[in-house]
This record gives sequence, structure tokens and C-alpha cells, in this order.
Amino acid sequence: MSHPDSIAPHGGTLIQRIASPQQREEFLSKADFLPRVPLDARAVSDLEMIAIGGFSPLTGFMEQADYHRVVNEMHLVNGLPWSIPVTLSVTEAIAEPLQIGSLVRLDNPTGQFIGVLELTQKYTYDKRHEALMVYRTNEEKHPGVAVVYNQGNINLAGPIWLLQREADPRFPTYQIDPAESRALFRDKGWKTIVGFQTRNPIHRAHEYIIKCAMEIVDGLFLHPLVGATKEDDIPADVRMRCYEIMLEHYFPHERVILAINPAAMRYAGPREAIFHALVRKNYGCTHFIVGRDHAGVGDYYGTYDAQHIFDEFSPGELGITPLKFEHAFYCLRTKQMATTKTSPSTREERVHLSGTKVREMLRRGETPPPEFSRPEVARELAQAMRITEPSYEI
Ligand code: ADX
Repeated sequence: MSHPDSIAPHGGTLIQRIASPQQREEFLSKADFLPRVPLDARAVSDLEMIAIGGFSPLTGFMEQADYHRVVNEMHLVNGLPWSIPVTLSVTEAIAEPLQIGSLVRLDNPTGQFIGVLELTQKYTYDKRHEALMVYRTNEEKHPGVAVVYNQGNINLAGPIWLLQREADPRFPTYQIDPAESRALFRDKGWKTIVGFQTRNPIHRAHEYIIKCAMEIVDGLFLHPLVGATKEDDIPADVRMRCYEIMLEHYFPHERVILAINPAAMRYAGPREAIFHALVRKNYGCTHFIVGRDHAGVGDYYGTYDAQHIFDEFSPGELGITPLKFEHAFYCLRTKQMATTKTSPSTREERVHLSGTKVREMLRRGETPPPEFSRPEVARELAQAMRITEPSYEI
């Protein structure tokens, strides 16, 4: 529930689409008779995010008019900003027998009944156009575009219900839904809260920009994404251990809340930065950190494109304030983290460690240097790397 002191959710109302006990009984009694639609990991995350209000004002998967407006103009039909299509895409074979107006059973990838869709529309869409508009490329090697190209050709739309809110067995203590984060912020008396999105193990540039932001707000909502990521990203459990280590040694506990973001990564760069900000607004954040190449992948986006896109919205339209940070590095001259805004260093005096270099070090059994990672985090990463031997990128 929102409070007069807290920031309003996007659209004014925090959406809640978790079935009531009576609804759940009713859905379960129909379970064997409803047509089934299998969801992939991303659709499961989307269902969950809609149900808990993380995607407010969405109450379900997008209808065609919203889809077009979002893809072409970054707004919903009701005029609210929205930058990423949230769709349930299935094959013609799955869509064909489904009746408009009927209830559809949504199953997770292991066949478990987890949600219900009230089908209001089925429509085709132009994948290439979506790729170009949302991801700014039509190359299939972009991981977000690859998902669009490989998904079904028909979008199913309509309001949803999540059958029940289940604890994430991986991180039960960090599962804090928007209604709960809002209540926590209120209980702590925080009026200004900065949200931090991340999908990588925390390094010193992250720590630097987070702490710069913490200097001007009441609290930090450290909100790593734990939904589907590309294969070579570091597994969420390893990343969570790194955040725990950081909180234990390097942050004041009373000014930080660590919580998981169950959403899937799209790697849509600028468009996803807007989306990430709106989601954090729904969790109750007033500010949102956007650093270098936010939500980017490869060389698809310019270093600060994800910051510039905020200027495409009128002042106040998004309802959350972006805090923009330049590329941070370790400065050998001043012996501290810095950006070109605060350091007089020459290029040679800046330590920018690339993911490739760090990966090579980890492979050789070396730990990343203290200019890049806090030693406790470096040790954790080195150990996880030895156990899992992934070929990942930081
Ligand atoms: S992201 O896909 O979630 O953006 P990552 O976890 O690496 O990836 O980044 C989290 C946030 O930190 C983003 O806002 C990103 O722009 C920012 N960031 C990452 N590295 C740097 C850096 N060296 N300098 C400034 N900002 C950075």
C-alpha cells in the first residue's frame, strides 16, 4: 500500500495480481480443463513482476495498441511512459485453438500450473521492427534480439493472475516485493531512496557510484537482477554472495536494503534503462543510478546513450530522478576511484579493467587486483570460477 509520504507507483496504483485464496481454489478446480500455455523463464519472470506490481500499471500481457505505442513511441495508450514491450509470444499451433474471452492456464517450464491469463487478444507482430525500435539493431547475435527472433509469432494478451506468491528458494530472505519495500522505506523514515540495478558481480566502480549517490539520499535499495540473463553472465547466487560480502565489510547496514529483482534481462541498453527506472519507482525509489552503458551488451550502444534517453521525456513525466554517472576508474595519481569529472589523470593513470582481462586472470588462478575488486569479493569470484569453470564476461 502506498503512503502519502512515499513516491507514487507508475500510474498511481500499485498493481496486485496475486489470486486470492478463493480465486486460487476456483482456478485449481478448473486446472485440468483449461487450455495450457507453457511459459519460458522470461515469461515466468514477467508474470511474477506484473503480479507483484513491479510492472505497474500493467495488469497483464500487452494488447496490440499498447504494444505498438510502446514499440514506436515509448508510451502506453493511456499516455504513461513505457519503453519495453511485455508480451507473451507463442507459436501459431499454441495460439490457434485458444478462444478470445476464455481463461488460459499458464505453466512454468516444468509444467507446473502457476498463473492464469484471461485472453482478450491474439495478434501477430513484426519482429524485425521490434528489434530495430527497442534494441536499435536487427542483428541476431544481440542476446535480446535473439530472444525476440526465436519466440513465437503470435502475442497473447490480457490480464493475468499469479496463482500464488512462492518464496524464491535461492534467496528467500531477499525476496522483497514492491509493497514490502515501500513499507520498509517508510518504517526507516527514508524520504529519498536510490535504486541500483546490476547484473554483474559488484566491483569498485559500482561501489564508487553507489556511494556518491548515497551521499545525497536517505537510503540505498541495492536491487540486483536475478531473472534470466545471458549464458556467460555470472550466476545470480555467486553475485548475491558478492553483495553480501560488500555489505558486511564496506557499507553501513542501516542505510542499505538488499533485495532481488526477479525480472529477466533484455540487454536493450537505453530503452531498458527507462524500464529499470520505472520498475524501481514501483518499488518506491525516488532516484535511480544510470552509469556507463547501462544494460548494454557488446558495442551496440554508445557509452552514455542510456543517460541521453531520459531527455526524451518531459520533466517529471517519468516520476523518478535518474542519477547519471560517468565511466568510473581507479586513478593511480590520486589513488582513489574517480571519473574524468574529478580526476586530473592522464589516460595511462586510469585503471579500467576489462571483463576479458579479469576472466583471464581468474582462469590463471589469479584474483582480480584491489583496484578492480575488493579482495574479499575477488576471492569469492576466484573460488566460484574454479568450481564452475564458466566462460563468462564481467
Ligand atoms: S547492467 O546491465 O545492470 O547495467 P552492471 O551490473 O555492470 O550492468 O551495471 C550496473 C550499473 O552500474 C549500471 O548503471 C551501469 O551503467 C553502472 N556501471 C557499471 N560499470 C561502471 C563504470 N565503470 N563506471 C560507471 N558506471 C558503471
